[in-house]
Amino acid sequence: MAFSFNFDLQIKTDEAIHKDSIQKDQDHEPKPIVTNDTKEKINSDGVKEAKEHSPPPDCQSLLEDAVRETFTLGTLPPIHYLNESVFEQTMSELLDSEDILSKTAAQNTDLISGVYEGGLKVWECTYDLLEHLEAEGEAFSGKRVLDLGCGAGLLGILALKRGAREVHFQDYNSTVIERVTLPNVLLNCEDDDDDDDDDDGAGEGDEEGVKYGCPPPKRRAPGPPRDTKLAKCRFFSGSWTSFLTEMLSNDPLPKYDLIMTSETIYNEAYYPALHEVFRKLLDQGGLVYLATKAHYFGVGGGLYLFQNFVEQRDVFKMKCLKNVEQGLQRHVVALSFKKPDQ
Ligand SMILES: C[S@@+](CC[C@H](N)C(=O)[O-])C[C@H]1O[C@@H](n2cnc3c(N)ncnc32)[C@H](O)[C@@H]1O
Repeated sequence: MAFSFNFDLQIKTDEAIHKDSIQKDQDHEPKPIVTNDTKEKINSDGVKEAKEHSPPPDCQSLLEDAVRETFTLGTLPPIHYLNESVFEQTMSELLDSEDILSKTAAQNTDLISGVYEGGLKVWECTYDLLEHLEAEGEAFSGKRVLDLGCGAGLLGILALKRGAREVHFQDYNSTVIERVTLPNVLLNCEDDDDDDDDDDGAGEGDEEGVKYGCPPPKRRAPGPPRDTKLAKCRFFSGSWTSFLTEMLSNDPLPKYDLIMTSETIYNEAYYPALHEVFRKLLDQGGLVYLATKAHYFGVGGGLYLFQNFVEQRDVFKMKCLKNVEQGLQRHVVALSFKKPDQ
């Protein structure tokens, strides 16, 4: 089944992605490089502290000058998101408190460990997981969902549109959360085209195949429908370790029925923190959907290394759900607890 975008921008080919330069870091968690203009809080271990971000009172201001794209696939509701290229070219430096745009441009890289972990663009395994969810279905209705390492947040947005009870979005970078994830969620809260809030399965849906030049969804004045959807969402930035600490301080401890995570196992040094988030925050009967490349050249992580790590920890079982063989191999897998109370 083909998925489609309603724009003409060049989508990165596997070959191009293969050439993406990714900076390797051997440390356990990203070590932020603190500059004078970095307003992020760095804790004593040198990792970026978790911060919860609330939508501003005037949400609409986040969408000023927004150029939107729409992803459609089969029976999935359309998912709107900011055009990455336009966003990168037009975002004011003043809004980029982490200065990640200029740093990545200067270094011509998709990731700078501890500074920018890649969330400004949509990575291709996100689409693999969306394809899997479209083909196999997933009952989001009533579930608590975490989009971990969310970037643009397309996975969490799908859950929201499909009636999840709560959706939490986490990204390392506050700039990503504030300037990309939050606006994207807003774009999807305000239109009429996804009124399957309490629907588990196929929504209204679109015809299968390419849909170029979709008219923009109807604008709806801010009001209860949007506010209701937005009220189901929470947004967090910071390292996984600090995010976990933040969540563990809640009483009762929030547990997720579903954790969805795409392109987050590229750095072996982060596996302990990632595994701990799964172990502590996944509900006993819950499921982790993980979409990944088989190997990340230049960084060294990938599915086989992560699989070994998971097997050694002996907490989760892993099941392969989808393999994409062309170009760089990619996979969608599911993790669930081996035994209760781990
Ligand atoms: C390559 S991006 C993928 C973004 C998005 N999931 C996608 O598929 O388009 C990896 C994401 O994982 C998150 N991430 C990676 N390592 C992290 C860490 N140690 N702590 C917190 N977040 C991390 C980053 O925020 C980043 O957005």
